[in-house]
Amino acid sequence: MSTADIFLGIQWGDEGKGRVVDSYAADYDIVARFGGGDNAGHTLVVGAQKLALRIVPSGVLQERPQLFIGGGTVIGLGGLIAELDMLAALGVDTSRIKISDRAHVVFSYHAARDAASETARGAAALGTTGRGIGPAYTDKAARVGITFADLRDLGLLAARLRSNAGDAGDAVLAATLPLLPRVLPHVVDGVSYVHEALEAGKRVLIEGAQGTLLDVGYGTYPFVTSSHTIAGGACTGLGIGPTAIRRVVGIAKAYCTRVGAGPFPSELHDATGDALRTAGAEFGTVTGRPRRCGWFDAVAARYAVRLNGLTSAVITKLDVLSGLEKIAIVSGYRLGEREVGFEAAAQPGLQLECQWFDGWDDDLSAVRKIADLPKPAARYVAALQRALGVPLDAVSLGPERSSIALV
Ligand code: GDP
Ligand code: IMO
Ligand code: MG
Repeated sequence: MSTADIFLGIQWGDEGKGRVVDSYAADYDIVARFGGGDNAGHTLVVGAQKLALRIVPSGVLQERPQLFIGGGTVIGLGGLIAELDMLAALGVDTSRIKISDRAHVVFSYHAARDAASETARGAAALGTTGRGIGPAYTDKAARVGITFADLRDLGLLAARLRSNAGDAGDAVLAATLPLLPRVLPHVVDGVSYVHEALEAGKRVLIEGAQGTLLDVGYGTYPFVTSSHTIAGGACTGLGIGPTAIRRVVGIAKAYCTRVGAGPFPSELHDATGDALRTAGAEFGTVTGRPRRCGWFDAVAARYAVRLNGLTSAVITKLDVLSGLEKIAIVSGYRLGEREVGFEAAAQPGLQLECQWFDGWDDDLSAVRKIADLPKPAARYVAALQRALGVPLDAVSLGPERSSIALV
């Protein structure tokens, strides 16, 4: 039986995927990313050490797993090398990091196009991370992208760059060539790599990037990223069938955040929103932008449970809610008399139904079992679990690896 388990975010990203994957990674032989690029920022805190990963999977601080960057990703070479150097400086053996030959390369002209299209949108800008992610996936779909396999054939690479970037192609090539000796040793046949591992009975943890509500097909389009972030994207992004998947674990914050523009029904524009931002240190890992904050949205969560076929969930950042007098869960959406679902998230005049809970003042950081949570926190967690409708595996109570309470 195959043991590929997916851990992914079920909100708008930054749910604490890095932190959760780091905690579970010691049980796995491979931790794999399947999509996105360095638009992701996954934070790990282990003792005094804190780092943000962009493209390398979040198992890298555990000794056991190999790290695999799958074919569904798009990767900038400069950023990749900077991340490898950062990890090497921490004493990490970076030869454990493998990159699929099917992954696509993000070049400087992608970032330039990302910036230009944001400018052209004016007030309707998406608030992208500016990393060239959208244009790189556009090139992939338009069949003019350059893969890591292509980097091995300099004639082909030069021709593609000239055709994609015109006269600037030669300069891009000149900037790329010195990076290749650093990158190519990590490139593997991604399909053989994954399937040989699964056939050998290896345990694979598949790490999501971004979040379900940023999925290009099912998120709050057009305010989304350019890849499939949902569980189905893990299959296409790694070249495996759905039958290879055992568990799909959804990671959700105990409240909601979003960075960038787009619908966010449960957003708080008041002092409570500011309090969540301060207590949760809600500033973008990649861009430093303040994250928009709001209550946990059960309508959005149920939508995400369906899209991913979740088998269980992990709640993060429960500790951030300590000290609030009252805490709400958005339990329903209405348009006039009509009960509506997440598909109505962008509708003007959307009304929210809230369920209110008593807060708590206790510091939760030392709790290690969900059953040991103070009563009001336990009641709130039970309500989150009911809203999700799947079992909880754990509740995270701090950024540090060990600050996690299990069932
Ligand atoms: P990711 O993109 O899903 O990996 O999440 P980010 O790393 O971008 O953002 C999550 C932030 O919350 C990081 O700064 C984490 O260190 C922090 N964090 C994760 N889990 C917890 C938690 O349970 N409590 C607190 N206080 N912080 C957490
Ligand atoms: P992690 O993996 C939060 C958002 C951007 C923007 C939209 C499109 O850390 O959870 P893009 O640069 O992808 O074209 O931007 O998607 N976005 C994220 N928001 N966390 C992320 O990643 C994100 N990756 C992209 O802010 O709204
Ligand atoms: Mg992040």
